[in-house]
Amino acid sequence: MNILKLTTGAVAASVIAAAAFAHGGATGIVKERMDGMSAMKDSMKVLTPMMQGKVPYDAATVRREAEKIGRHAGESLTKLFPEGTAGKPSEAKPEIWQDWDTFSDLAEQLHTYAEGLALAADNGLMMAGSGQGAGMMGGGSMMGSGMMTGGGAMMGSGMMGGVPGREELSEMPADGVFMMLSQACSACHTRFRSE
Ligand code: HEC
Repeated sequence: MNILKLTTGAVAASVIAAAAFAHGGATGIVKERMDGMSAMKDSMKVLTPMMQGKVPYDAATVRREAEKIGRHAGESLTKLFPEGTAGKPSEAKPEIWQDWDTFSDLAEQLHTYAEGLALAADNGLMMAGSGQGAGMMGGGSMMGSGMMTGGGAMMGSGMMGGVPGREELSEMPADGVFMMLSQACSACHTRFRSE
Protein backbone atom coordinates (compact mmCIF):
# COMPACT_ATOMS: atom_id res chain seq x y z
CA MET A 1 0.00 0.00 0.00
CA ASN A 2 2.67 2.39 1.05
CA ILE A 3 4.90 1.21 -1.70
CA LEU A 4 2.15 1.72 -4.23
CA LYS A 5 1.57 5.24 -3.00
CA LEU A 6 5.26 5.97 -3.19
CA THR A 7 5.50 4.66 -6.72
CA THR A 8 2.56 6.72 -7.87
CA GLY A 9 4.11 9.73 -6.25
CA ALA A 10 7.40 9.10 -7.96
CA VAL A 11 5.75 8.75 -11.34
CA ALA A 12 3.83 11.97 -10.87
CA ALA A 13 7.00 13.73 -9.81
CA SER A 14 8.88 12.52 -12.85
CA VAL A 15 6.07 13.71 -15.12
CA ILE A 16 6.24 17.14 -13.55
CA ALA A 17 10.01 17.13 -13.88
CA ALA A 18 9.73 16.18 -17.56
CA ALA A 19 7.46 19.15 -18.13
CA ALA A 20 9.76 21.49 -16.28
CA PHE A 21 12.79 20.29 -18.21
CA ALA A 22 11.14 20.12 -21.58
CA HIS A 23 14.28 21.39 -23.28
CA GLY A 24 16.39 18.36 -22.40
CA GLY A 25 17.22 19.38 -18.85
CA ALA A 26 18.25 22.93 -19.56
CA THR A 27 18.25 25.31 -16.62
CA GLY A 28 19.16 28.91 -15.94
CA ILE A 29 20.14 31.13 -18.80
CA VAL A 30 20.18 28.28 -21.32
CA LYS A 31 16.57 27.49 -20.50
CA GLU A 32 15.76 31.18 -20.64
CA ARG A 33 17.05 31.53 -24.19
CA MET A 34 15.32 28.32 -25.29
CA ASP A 35 12.07 29.74 -23.91
CA GLY A 36 12.65 32.96 -25.83
CA MET A 37 13.29 31.01 -29.03
CA SER A 38 10.17 28.92 -28.42
CA ALA A 39 8.12 32.08 -27.96
CA MET A 40 9.36 33.32 -31.34
CA LYS A 41 8.45 29.97 -32.85
CA ASP A 42 4.92 30.38 -31.48
CA SER A 43 4.67 33.78 -33.14
CA MET A 44 5.89 32.28 -36.41
CA LYS A 45 3.18 29.65 -36.13
CA VAL A 46 0.57 32.40 -35.96
CA LEU A 47 2.13 34.45 -38.75
CA THR A 48 3.03 31.78 -41.31
CA PRO A 49 -0.50 30.68 -42.34
CA MET A 50 -1.55 34.32 -42.41
CA MET A 51 1.32 35.25 -44.72
CA GLN A 52 0.45 32.31 -46.94
CA GLY A 53 -3.14 33.51 -47.18
CA LYS A 54 -4.42 30.38 -45.47
CA VAL A 55 -6.12 32.35 -42.73
CA PRO A 56 -7.56 35.85 -43.06
CA TYR A 57 -4.96 38.58 -42.81
CA ASP A 58 -5.19 40.71 -39.70
CA ALA A 59 -2.84 43.67 -39.40
CA ALA A 60 -3.26 43.97 -35.61
CA THR A 61 -2.22 40.34 -35.12
CA VAL A 62 0.77 40.79 -37.40
CA ARG A 63 1.83 43.87 -35.47
CA ARG A 64 1.41 42.14 -32.12
CA GLU A 65 3.38 39.02 -33.09
CA ALA A 66 6.08 41.09 -34.79
CA GLU A 67 6.50 43.12 -31.62
CA LYS A 68 6.75 39.91 -29.58
CA ILE A 69 9.53 38.65 -31.84
CA GLY A 70 11.22 42.02 -31.56
CA ARG A 71 11.30 41.74 -27.78
CA HIS A 72 13.32 38.52 -28.06
CA ALA A 73 15.71 39.79 -30.74
CA GLY A 74 18.73 42.09 -30.73
CA GLU A 75 20.35 42.59 -27.39
CA SER A 76 17.61 40.65 -25.59
CA LEU A 77 18.83 37.67 -27.56
CA THR A 78 22.56 38.15 -27.36
CA LYS A 79 22.62 38.83 -23.62
CA LEU A 80 21.32 35.27 -23.10
CA PHE A 81 24.46 33.87 -24.71
CA PRO A 82 27.28 34.55 -22.29
CA GLU A 83 30.53 32.86 -23.18
CA GLY A 84 30.93 29.30 -21.98
CA THR A 85 27.27 28.30 -22.17
CA ALA A 86 27.56 25.83 -25.04
CA GLY A 87 27.50 22.08 -24.46
CA LYS A 88 24.67 19.74 -23.57
CA PRO A 89 21.77 20.22 -23.39
CA SER A 90 22.34 23.43 -25.32
CA GLU A 91 22.46 23.34 -29.10
CA ALA A 92 24.50 26.52 -29.26
CA LYS A 93 27.71 26.08 -31.25
CA PRO A 94 31.03 27.36 -29.90
CA GLU A 95 31.32 29.34 -33.17
CA ILE A 96 29.00 31.90 -31.56
CA TRP A 97 31.84 33.19 -29.43
CA GLN A 98 34.50 32.79 -32.13
CA ASP A 99 32.40 34.91 -34.46
CA TRP A 100 30.45 37.08 -32.07
CA ASP A 101 30.14 39.96 -34.57
CA THR A 102 28.25 37.84 -37.07
CA PHE A 103 26.10 36.34 -34.33
CA SER A 104 25.11 39.69 -32.87
CA ASP A 105 24.59 41.14 -36.36
CA LEU A 106 22.06 38.42 -37.09
CA ALA A 107 20.34 39.06 -33.77
CA GLU A 108 20.22 42.76 -34.63
CA GLN A 109 18.92 42.03 -38.14
CA LEU A 110 16.10 40.02 -36.62
CA HIS A 111 15.27 43.00 -34.46
CA THR A 112 15.18 45.32 -37.47
CA TYR A 113 12.98 42.93 -39.46
CA ALA A 114 10.60 42.52 -36.51
CA GLU A 115 10.27 46.28 -36.21
CA GLY A 116 9.92 46.54 -39.96
CA LEU A 117 7.18 43.92 -40.00
CA ALA A 118 5.23 45.76 -37.32
CA LEU A 119 5.49 48.92 -39.42
CA ALA A 120 4.56 47.09 -42.62
CA ALA A 121 1.58 45.27 -41.08
CA ASP A 122 -0.91 47.69 -42.60
CA ASN A 123 0.50 47.16 -46.10
CA GLY A 124 -1.00 43.69 -46.21
CA LEU A 125 0.13 40.94 -48.52
CA MET A 126 1.80 41.39 -51.87
CA MET A 127 -0.70 39.08 -53.54
CA ALA A 128 -3.64 40.32 -51.52
CA GLY A 129 -6.73 39.09 -53.30
CA SER A 130 -8.98 40.39 -50.57
CA GLY A 131 -11.27 42.11 -53.05
CA GLN A 132 -11.01 45.36 -51.17
CA GLY A 133 -9.97 48.09 -53.54
CA ALA A 134 -6.98 48.86 -51.39
CA GLY A 135 -5.70 45.33 -51.81
CA MET A 136 -5.46 45.62 -55.57
CA MET A 137 -4.18 49.17 -55.56
CA GLY A 138 -1.70 48.46 -52.83
CA GLY A 139 -0.57 45.31 -54.54
CA GLY A 140 -0.04 47.12 -57.80
CA SER A 141 1.87 50.04 -56.43
CA MET A 142 3.99 47.79 -54.27
CA MET A 143 4.90 45.63 -57.21
CA GLY A 144 6.35 48.75 -58.75
CA SER A 145 8.28 50.25 -55.91
CA GLY A 146 8.29 47.64 -53.16
CA MET A 147 9.40 44.74 -55.30
CA MET A 148 12.22 46.66 -56.90
CA THR A 149 13.71 48.18 -53.82
CA GLY A 150 12.87 45.10 -51.78
CA GLY A 151 14.57 42.82 -54.25
CA GLY A 152 17.58 45.07 -54.41
CA ALA A 153 17.76 45.33 -50.67
CA MET A 154 17.56 41.60 -50.30
CA MET A 155 20.41 41.08 -52.72
CA GLY A 156 22.40 43.68 -50.87
CA SER A 157 21.74 42.17 -47.48
CA GLY A 158 22.53 38.68 -48.67
CA MET A 159 25.81 39.57 -50.31
CA MET A 160 27.12 42.48 -48.35
CA GLY A 161 25.75 41.98 -44.89
CA GLY A 162 23.83 45.24 -45.13
CA VAL A 163 20.21 45.24 -44.05
CA PRO A 164 17.40 47.44 -45.35
CA GLY A 165 16.41 50.04 -42.80
CA ARG A 166 13.09 50.34 -41.03
CA GLU A 167 11.97 53.04 -43.48
CA GLU A 168 12.47 50.80 -46.43
CA LEU A 169 10.90 47.79 -44.74
CA SER A 170 7.90 49.82 -43.66
CA GLU A 171 7.02 50.35 -47.32
CA MET A 172 7.23 46.73 -48.33
CA PRO A 173 4.37 44.24 -48.36
CA ALA A 174 4.17 42.44 -45.02
CA ASP A 175 4.86 39.01 -46.50
CA GLY A 176 8.04 40.31 -48.09
CA VAL A 177 9.33 41.52 -44.74
CA PHE A 178 8.17 38.29 -43.13
CA MET A 179 10.23 36.27 -45.59
CA MET A 180 13.33 38.25 -44.74
CA LEU A 181 12.60 37.85 -41.05
CA SER A 182 12.32 34.09 -41.29
CA GLN A 183 15.54 34.01 -43.27
CA ALA A 184 17.26 35.68 -40.33
CA CYS A 185 16.09 32.83 -38.09
CA SER A 186 17.42 30.16 -40.41
CA ALA A 187 20.62 32.00 -41.29
CA CYS A 188 21.56 32.06 -37.63
CA HIS A 189 20.48 28.47 -36.98
CA THR A 190 22.42 27.15 -39.96
CA ARG A 191 25.54 28.80 -38.71
CA PHE A 192 25.29 28.74 -34.94
CA ARG A 193 22.91 26.00 -33.86
CA SER A 194 23.71 22.30 -34.02
CA GLU A 195 20.99 19.86 -35.01
C1 HEC B 1 21.32 35.31 -33.74
C2 HEC B 1 21.05 33.91 -33.87
C3 HEC B 1 19.64 33.40 -33.86
C4 HEC B 1 18.52 33.96 -34.41
C5 HEC B 1 18.39 35.25 -35.20
C6 HEC B 1 17.42 33.06 -34.11
N1 HEC B 1 17.87 31.98 -33.41
FE1 HEC B 1 16.72 30.43 -32.74
N2 HEC B 1 18.40 29.59 -31.88
C7 HEC B 1 19.67 30.11 -31.93
C8 HEC B 1 20.57 29.27 -31.17
C9 HEC B 1 22.05 29.47 -30.99
C10 HEC B 1 19.78 28.23 -30.64
C11 HEC B 1 20.24 27.09 -29.69
C12 HEC B 1 20.10 27.61 -28.26
C13 HEC B 1 20.52 26.59 -27.21
O1 HEC B 1 20.19 25.40 -27.40
O2 HEC B 1 21.18 26.99 -26.24
C14 HEC B 1 18.41 28.47 -31.11
C15 HEC B 1 17.33 27.64 -30.81
C16 HEC B 1 16.04 27.82 -31.30
C17 HEC B 1 14.92 26.94 -31.02
C18 HEC B 1 14.96 25.70 -30.14
C19 HEC B 1 14.70 26.11 -28.69
C20 HEC B 1 14.70 24.92 -27.75
O3 HEC B 1 13.69 24.75 -27.06
O4 HEC B 1 15.69 24.19 -27.68
C21 HEC B 1 13.83 27.45 -31.69
C22 HEC B 1 12.42 26.89 -31.70
C23 HEC B 1 14.27 28.65 -32.37
N3 HEC B 1 15.61 28.84 -32.11
C24 HEC B 1 13.44 29.47 -33.13
C25 HEC B 1 13.85 30.68 -33.71
C26 HEC B 1 12.98 31.52 -34.51
C27 HEC B 1 11.53 31.22 -34.85
C28 HEC B 1 13.73 32.59 -34.89
C29 HEC B 1 13.33 33.78 -35.73
C30 HEC B 1 12.10 34.45 -35.43
C31 HEC B 1 15.06 32.40 -34.33
N4 HEC B 1 15.09 31.24 -33.63
C32 HEC B 1 16.11 33.29 -34.52
C33 HEC B 1 20.07 31.26 -32.59
C34 HEC B 1 19.21 32.14 -33.24
